[in-house]
Amino acid sequence: MRYFVVVPAAGSGRRLASSSAGLADVRKQYLEIAGRTVLEHALAPFLADARCARVVVAIAPDDARWPVIERSLADPRLCAVAGGVERADSVRLALAALHGTASAEAWVLVHDAARPCLSAAELSGLVTALQLHDVGGLLALPLADTVKRAAPRAGRVSSNALAQVDATLDREDLWRALTPQMFRFAALTEALSLTSLAGRVPTDEAQAIEWLGLQPQLVAGDARNIKITTAVDLELAAALLAARNSSPAG
Ligand code: C5P
Repeated sequence: MRYFVVVPAAGSGRRLASSSAGLADVRKQYLEIAGRTVLEHALAPFLADARCARVVVAIAPDDARWPVIERSLADPRLCAVAGGVERADSVRLALAALHGTASAEAWVLVHDAARPCLSAAELSGLVTALQLHDVGGLLALPLADTVKRAAPRAGRVSSNALAQVDATLDREDLWRALTPQMFRFAALTEALSLTSLAGRVPTDEAQAIEWLGLQPQLVAGDARNIKITTAVDLELAAALLAARNSSPAG
């Protein structure tokens, strides 16, 4: 079995910027943990996997860091394309670079550039769970906390401003979507093309697949597979990667 990888890395990192003034001018995938960028950590488990045939990274058109990283990684499976306005546009443009290389049924794994803690074991767990599946699916985690919906607030309020509870949701069937998300090349291409034509913006690949009327499989992931959104996440990721590197299993 072999698979292709798409890494959307064309975001501006605005959420990190707004939560941490000191880091404002660095795209979050270029923040460093233990001497390597978040993006390099995110790519590492794929580049270490012989099943990975090609990795397409979607970058912002004005990104000056990527060429330096691509040269230093020196892996012939790596290439880059210019990303789009939304994450889904970036994924769609990266998929276009696989036309002629990936067959209609080939598996494509989409992984956020801002998730540096994906382990080889978690990646293999996803691939093993889904490789015979018709549709594909995604890593996800059942919600552990009670979930509150805040009452709508008038005007623009910062995310950590006080809010009032409108309702408590039933968390019984709720999961948090992680990445990688793994779908067939043709189905994912069709799903993202249709949403783009319709002017709809899915928040992840799975939602675009759901809009085709298909049901992605949820595969239990690892709570350590965090996304860097705030400065606290960066501290957590550094601690998690240090713990992994010092454990006997590596
Ligand atoms: O902003 P958020 O954390 O949801 O971004 C998730 C991933 O999507 C990040 O790796 C980011 O770089 C990427 N992205 C992208 N193109 C955009 C917006 C986000 O590739 N237009």
